Amino acid sequence: MEADELMTSRAVDSPESTPESTPERPGAEVTVKRTAELAGSALHELCDAADVAILDGGGFGWLSPPPRHVMEAYWKGVLLVPERELVIGRLDGVVAGSAQLMRPPKNNEAQALTGQLTTFFVAPWARGYGLARSLVLAVEAAARDAGLRALNLDVRKTQERAITVYEQLGYQRWGSHPRYAWIDGRWHTGLYYVKDLGGAHETLSA
Ligand SMILES: CC(C)(COP(=O)(O)OP(=O)(O)OC[C@H]1O[C@@H](n2cnc3c(N)ncnc32)[C@H](O)[C@@H]1OP(=O)(O)O)[C@@H](O)C(=O)NCCC(=O)NCCS
Repeated sequence: MEADELMTSRAVDSPESTPESTPERPGAEVTVKRTAELAGSALHELCDAADVAILDGGGFGWLSPPPRHVMEAYWKGVLLVPERELVIGRLDGVVAGSAQLMRPPKNNEAQALTGQLTTFFVAPWARGYGLARSLVLAVEAAARDAGLRALNLDVRKTQERAITVYEQLGYQRWGSHPRYAWIDGRWHTGLYYVKDLGGAHETLSA
C-alpha cells in the first residue's frame, strides 16, 4: 500500500489500517486515497463515475456530461493546480467517487488557514457504502496536514444526502444564498457550511 493510501470509511486517517468490508454491505471494500496521478484505468474510471453522477443530478456544476476529452482534461488539470488536492474513492478497486481540497492561494495571507471542500461526489452505483464519509474525512485530513484550521463548503439545498453527510460530520450551516445556481429555468438555493478543524484557540469576530 502506498504511504498516502488510506483505507476504509472507519479509519480513513490511519495509514496503518487494513481494508475491511463495510458492515452494511459485506464484501464491499472501500478505499480512499489522496492522489497526484491518475495512472492506468483510474482516469477513465473517474470520468465514468463523474458522468453517471452528473446524469443523476449531482455533478459539481455540470448539468450534463461534457465530451470525454473535456472531462479528461478537467481531471488532468486538477492534478496540475498547486492549491488542489484530489482524493479518489474506490469500491472494490474501481474508482467510484472523489472530492477535492482547495487550499488558499499564496497571496491570500488573510485566509491562509481556511480551505474549501469541493467537487464531492459518489457514483450512484457506489452509494450507501460509506464512501462519502471516507472522502470527506480524507479531505479533512489533507487540510489538517496542510495546516488549515477551517474548511468551508457550499451545496445546493436539494442535495439532501450530501447535507446529511456534512451535518453528521459536524459542519455548521452559517448561511444560504437564494440565487446560488440556475437550473432548469429557475434559481436554486445554496447552503454554506464551515467546520472548525481544531488547532489554536478560536476567537470568532464579526
Ligand atoms: C452526497 C453523496 C456523495 C453521498 O454519498 P452516498 O454514498 O450516497 O452517502 P451515504 O450512502 O453514506 O448516505 C449519506 C447519508 O444520507 C442519508 N440519506 C440517504 N438518502 C437521503 C435523503 N434522500 N435525504 C437525506 N438523507 C439521505 C443516508 O441514510 C446516510 O445517512 P446514514 O449514514 O445516517 O444512513 C452522493 O449521494 C452524491 O454523489 N450525490 C450527488 C452529488 C452531491 O450532492 N455532491 C455534494 C455536492 S457539494
